[in-house]
Amino acid sequence: RVVAVIMVGGPTKGTRFRPLSLNVPKPLFPLAGQPMVHHPISACRRIPNLAQIYLIGFYEEREFALYVSSISNELRIPVRYLREDKPHGSAGGLYSFRDYIMEDSPSHIVLLNCDVCSSFPLPDMLEAHKKYGGMGTLLVNKVSAESANQFGELVADPETNELLHYTEKPETFVSDLINCGVYIFTPNIFSAIEDVLKQKKDRANLRRVSSFEALQSATKALPADFVRLDQDILSPLAGKKELYTYQTLDFWEQIKTPGMSLRCSGLYLSQFRRTSPHLLASGDGKRTATIVGDVYIHPSAKVHPTSKIGPNVSISANARVGAGARLINCIILDDVEIMENAVVIHSIVGWKSSIGKWSRVQGEGDHNAKLGITILGKTQTRRFTVSHTEIFVIILFLELTSYINTGEAVDVEDEVVVVNSIVLPNKTLNVSVQEEIIL
Ligand code: GDD
Repeated sequence: RVVAVIMVGGPTKGTRFRPLSLNVPKPLFPLAGQPMVHHPISACRRIPNLAQIYLIGFYEEREFALYVSSISNELRIPVRYLREDKPHGSAGGLYSFRDYIMEDSPSHIVLLNCDVCSSFPLPDMLEAHKKYGGMGTLLVNKVSAESANQFGELVADPETNELLHYTEKPETFVSDLINCGVYIFTPNIFSAIEDVLKQKKDRANLRRVSSFEALQSATKALPADFVRLDQDILSPLAGKKELYTYQTLDFWEQIKTPGMSLRCSGLYLSQFRRTSPHLLASGDGKRTATIVGDVYIHPSAKVHPTSKIGPNVSISANARVGAGARLINCIILDDVEIMENAVVIHSIVGWKSSIGKWSRVQGEGDHNAKLGITILGKTQTRRFTVSHTEIFVIILFLELTSYINTGEAVDVEDEVVVVNSIVLPNKTLNVSVQEEIIL
């Protein structure tokens, strides 16, 4: 039997994902209309003899309660959230729930980082792992030499696929082959973590007796029960015939920033064409919008038949898209209103935002650049038009109530331009916005 474990981290991690992680834990942020963690969970379902899926993190239990109960019912596989009282590191977190994980006496444990986007070729990886006969197999990928230092870089034997050398995020280039954060282990992984814990304890004890200064530096170091899978387990076990690699030739990305979430949403939408075509909007029939490429529209969203949507657009629950609106490469979150003839391109529009008539919200589409896409956190856009003169006044006010309470006139033309900006929730602006982060 096989047990799957997905490491979801906690609120102190994923800070680069702000402002999108201010409203919802990062693992539940929607990509292609499904929570981020839903994609690895669906992939686990394809593993033969899967007994359980555990999510391990240090978010409050209530943040995941609704999701795990609905996904367990939907997939008819038990999915459970296990909460760490504090971060123990990627291997320490796994170890602290070893009794739960071993309840089903699994022969294999599939371990996944939740913030990676992949086709997760788990059944093939499992087969390869059994053939290698080691303790663990890592999914690996080739990336550009310039980007490799954001990941664990590794060297593998081209014949046997054995992991020969592993360095986590090295300063000098080692290899363009990197760790994808997807693993298969035998239960022996727990003994390996236990050995590291023991060594750490011994070292801490040694320091304690050696000198006061050393004791001080030891207290500043990571806690003795904090074990990182990469530095503490993979690096020392490389070259010992314990670890092997399986290279993916399909898509793989890391999801650390909002820009990457937009790109990954598109990758998952195109995967739906093969795996779940029923989730893609078809655009057939007179009463539906014009659909271009891969688009997801939540059943409760109302999209006007004269609007044009796609490619790479996902529209969440209760969103409304008005007549003549044009949406390209964007994520529209719950309860957003896009009014008539508004244009949204390369952007993420936050929960409950309202984009006025003839408004334009746009990024330049570079998902790696800090301001490559526009992100609006609960924002309203409006433009006043003064007689025939084209004067743009941009007001992004995030609390409609404060606007109404000021008693300002509401008879405004709704036209606004917002370019390459990030706007955090609960701010009121009355200046035009281009290449800005509004905190
Ligand atoms: N439960 C729990 N507890 N989860 C954790 C903890 C912890 O203490 N620390 C990290 N995680 C989770 C994160 O949420 C993430 O899903 C995963 O474990 C790895 O996070 P990090 O340890 O912060 O590493 P990283 O994401 O910067 O890099 C890792 O993944 C890359 C691939 O995306 C490394 O393994 C790299 O080598 C790898 O290339």
